[in-house]
Formats: sequence, structure tokens, C-alpha cells
Amino acid sequence: MSAHPLGIFDSGLGGLSVAREVRLRLPREDLLYIADSAYVPYGGRSLEEIRERSIAMTRELVEAGAKLVVAACNTASGAAIEALRETFAIPIVGLEPAVKPAAATSRKRRIAVLATPATLQTERFHRLVDNHGPGIDVVKVACPGFVELVESGEVTGERAAKVVRDVLASVVEADVDRVVLGCTHYPFLREHLTDVLGESVEILDSGAAVARQVERVLAANGLLRQSGSGDFRALTTGDPTTVAPIVDRLWGGPVDTAHVSI
Ligand code: DGL
Repeated sequence: MSAHPLGIFDSGLGGLSVAREVRLRLPREDLLYIADSAYVPYGGRSLEEIRERSIAMTRELVEAGAKLVVAACNTASGAAIEALRETFAIPIVGLEPAVKPAAATSRKRRIAVLATPATLQTERFHRLVDNHGPGIDVVKVACPGFVELVESGEVTGERAAKVVRDVLASVVEADVDRVVLGCTHYPFLREHLTDVLGESVEILDSGAAVARQVERVLAANGLLRQSGSGDFRALTTGDPTTVAPIVDRLWGGPVDTAHVSI
């Protein structure tokens, strides 16, 4: 690992869906990922607590030499992106649900946003809907059970299918043609989502757009790594004996995962 990796954090393992897009786009960069497994899920916590944890995660990454940090979590970005940018001097890239492209392309003028309760109550989310959603019905759906399925690595099988089916019943009823994945855990359930929604509903997530944004910011700051092949290392605030095998499963290969106390 070079002295200056890209730092990526999430409440848990959902941010791996962003990390894999960053890896695809920027294979030379070293990636250092922190899963705040001891505090997952963030979605039911107060905005104040999410802000405190996000600052603590970012501080750890900065102290490890990160040249840029990705808040690979819509909930953390919604609650804390301004605070992170005020607190740290390095570039911080955040996420927001892909409401803009969904609203711009919806023929039915009806879209759904799936996100955590905390994201749905942030000011940043309300602004996003106000700016891009006029004239569009935006169905907002908190998705109980989704984060837990991903954290336990249970992304395939009948139990996951049933949880997804139950949560999406209201979305199917609303007859939308775009569904925005406003939480980085949800792309790991994409196959079940497609099964329930059908091929005619487009599912949008922000991972690839964030990876492009990371590339732009690195390039603009002269920080792109020019040679070598990057590695990927993970830290968890939880118990690595339980978390590491799930990181391997979601990443699709063995990852060096260690404990960190934050
Ligand atoms: N992965 C997160 C997000 O993008 C948060 C999930 C949670 O911890 O509730 O919103």
C-alpha cells in the first residue's frame, strides 16, 4: 500500500458497492476501507451521532495518510458532508441518491427512492427532491431489513427474496418506472430488486458516478497515481472474525480485513 491511499468509509459493508466501482475505474490506486460495523446501521441513528461517527471515520483515514476520502454512505453524506469538508483539508467526495437522472428520464413522471430513514429526513435530501423533482411524484421508501441482509452476507436465497418482495410491495403498487437506490447497501440486492420490479423499471445507483467524480477530483488536484497496481485493505470497528468472510464474499475475493478501535 502506498503512503497515500484513497480512504472509503461506510456504516458497514454497503460502501463496498462504491469501492468496487472505484477499483474498476482507478485500478492503480490503493484503497483503504473502513466499515463502522460496531455502529451499523446508521439509518436509525440521530443526525448528530451519524455526524460524530463520520468525523471519527474520516479522521482515522486522514491519519492513515488518505489523499481523498469517499463517504460511501448516503446517510453519512446527508448528515455530515458539510462538517467533513469544514473539518478536513483533503478532498471529500460524498454521495447523493440519483434523483436527478431518474427524474430527468422518467416517462411516467413517477419515481421511487429507496433509502434509510435518516437519509429521507435530511435537509440535503429534501433539497435534492425540491430541485429535481418538481412535477414528478417521488415515492420515498425506507427499507427495513435490507442493510441487515447485506451485513450478514445473505444477499441471495429465499429469505432475502422475501424481505425485498415485502418492502417493494408499495413500490410495485405505485407503478413507477425508475427506482433510485439511495443507500450503498442496496446494490447488493439488485437481482432480487429486478425480480420484483421487472425489466421495464430502471434501477439507478450512484456507484459509477461517484467513481468518475473521484477520478475528476484526483486529476484536478494532481493526485492521480500514474503507475503500479493498487491494493485493497479493509478495517472494521467490529469483530473481524465475523466481518472478514462477509467482506470476502461481497468483494468477490480475499481481502486483508483487520480490527480498528475508533
Ligand atoms: N450504506 C448506508 C447508506 O448509503 C447506510 C446504511 C445504514 O447504516 O443504515 O445510506
